Amino acid sequence: METQSTYNYKVVRQFAIMTVVWGIVGMLVGVLIAAQLAWPVLNLSEVGPWFHFARLRPLHTNAVIFAFGGCGLFATSYYVVQRTCNVRLISDKLAAFTFWGWQLVILLAAITLPLGITTGKEYAELEWPIDILITVVWVAYAIVFFGTIAKRKVKHIYVANWFYAAFILAVALLHIVNSLEVPVSAFKSFPIYAGAVDAMVQWWYGHNAVGFFLTAAFLGMMYYFVPKQAGRPIYSYRLSVVHFWALIFTYMWAGPHHLHYTALPDWTQSLGMVFSLILFAPSWGGMINGIMTLSGAWHKLRTDPILKFMVVALSFYGMSTFEGPMMSIKSVNALSHYTDWTVGHVHSGALGWVGFITIGSIYYLIPRLFGRESMYSTKLMESHFWIATIGIVLYIASMWISGVMQGLMWRDINPTDGTLTYSFIQEVMQRYPYYIVRVLGGALYLVGMLIMAYNVFRTVAQGKAVDAKIPVVSQHHNA
Ligand code: HEM
Ligand code: HEM
Repeated sequence: METQSTYNYKVVRQFAIMTVVWGIVGMLVGVLIAAQLAWPVLNLSEVGPWFHFARLRPLHTNAVIFAFGGCGLFATSYYVVQRTCNVRLISDKLAAFTFWGWQLVILLAAITLPLGITTGKEYAELEWPIDILITVVWVAYAIVFFGTIAKRKVKHIYVANWFYAAFILAVALLHIVNSLEVPVSAFKSFPIYAGAVDAMVQWWYGHNAVGFFLTAAFLGMMYYFVPKQAGRPIYSYRLSVVHFWALIFTYMWAGPHHLHYTALPDWTQSLGMVFSLILFAPSWGGMINGIMTLSGAWHKLRTDPILKFMVVALSFYGMSTFEGPMMSIKSVNALSHYTDWTVGHVHSGALGWVGFITIGSIYYLIPRLFGRESMYSTKLMESHFWIATIGIVLYIASMWISGVMQGLMWRDINPTDGTLTYSFIQEVMQRYPYYIVRVLGGALYLVGMLIMAYNVFRTVAQGKAVDAKIPVVSQHHNA
């Protein structure tokens, strides 16, 4: 029943379930493209170009970031904004529109990318009609989120909402500016920018997609679900506010680290590097704030797999935000760029941080959305945690070794005559064993997701959809 005395959990339920579904799809494609890199025959060239690595890679990135990550963010932001503002979402219809609209975007991506319809801009591959649909859905999302904040019954706006709000505003800005394009047909457009300017805009977008989609928004998740699950207040609320402003200010300037040693003016590259180094401080401030929230509750880690997911997520957040600033140093980037090291860095952030904080939060939500005390099986959550953790370690360790080796082999020269020591193909062949280890690691992570799907299915089957009652006005934010 839709009534003003309950929260709108329907849309949260829908997005939460689709997070698991799209997680499996996106990661299945991830395992497939990882296997294609090890065994090229899997590109199925005789069937046609549709299953080629080049077509499925953007399908993977779009599916995991925008479908898995996106649905997780919609679900949690709608839950958090209602619970911390003590009001129902401002519009059920508009919220439902964001759900169906977002699923349509994902479906269109899944059709157009294998067909080769793409703008060619990484993480912004979708063609202009889909870009317009994304904009419309996003504006609706902003209205629902900010409208709900506007009619809140609690004076204070809890910090998690700040992070979600920054994410919504920044993604709107990034998407619109980077998607300014001239359509030449229904399925093809060209950017309005040219040359180095186009590259700069693209990586301003790309890096802030990492900063606001893959980081700020998931920090919103962290600031609500970690204290809730630990049963402790945030370690330092003041630090969370400093963390917020420092992070969003700094991220915007770091994009050029993706374009070191290119035609981009040198000073912009150095500026990008310096801001990336500065970024280390707020990132670790946030990470420490999250981890220290557990002080007094460390013993819970022994028995609570949800907290395990969250703490390991924070550890990977710390690791990838240490590694990132290092990789942004020009001399380090000269070694890491174009190598598997970057891919290792990406997946320590993606599998470790984004994946684990989402999985932990969804495990927190499912029983509450379906009227159960807890998930169907704690043992299965525990197995999920260990299998996925081993998967991540195999994935990123193999990519680090492979990447550093790759970079070193490329630059190795014979001291006698200055010629290259290794041919390109010799270097590719050296990477083969590590690619197999990556397939194995990815497969384990996927197995974890399948275990999660089963556990969620059993929990939902035992429970029934319930919408919690909105408590009579309280001045606290501990909803
Ligand atoms: C089962 C899990 C996964 C596997 C096996 C997997 C595998 C892969 C592979 C093989 C690539 C291409 C690497 C290359 O071009 O050399 C890739 C790229 C990428 N994946 Fe994943 N992935 C997984 C999960 C995820 C998740 C959960 C996310 C994000 C939340 C993610 C984000 C990305 C991104 C952003 C790239 C592009 C990296 C770059 O351009 O440097 N992946 N993945
Ligand atoms: C302080 C924070 C961070 C900094 C300064 C940073 C810096 C970097 C640098 C220097 C690169 C390599 C660029 C290149 O050589 O092409 C990179 C790539 C990347 N990072 Fe990070 N990183 C940070 C955190 C993260 C986190 C937390 C995630 C994920 C959740 C992430 C996701 C990515 C992705 C997806 C790429 C690959 C982009 C591409 O080439 O397609 N980064 N980052």
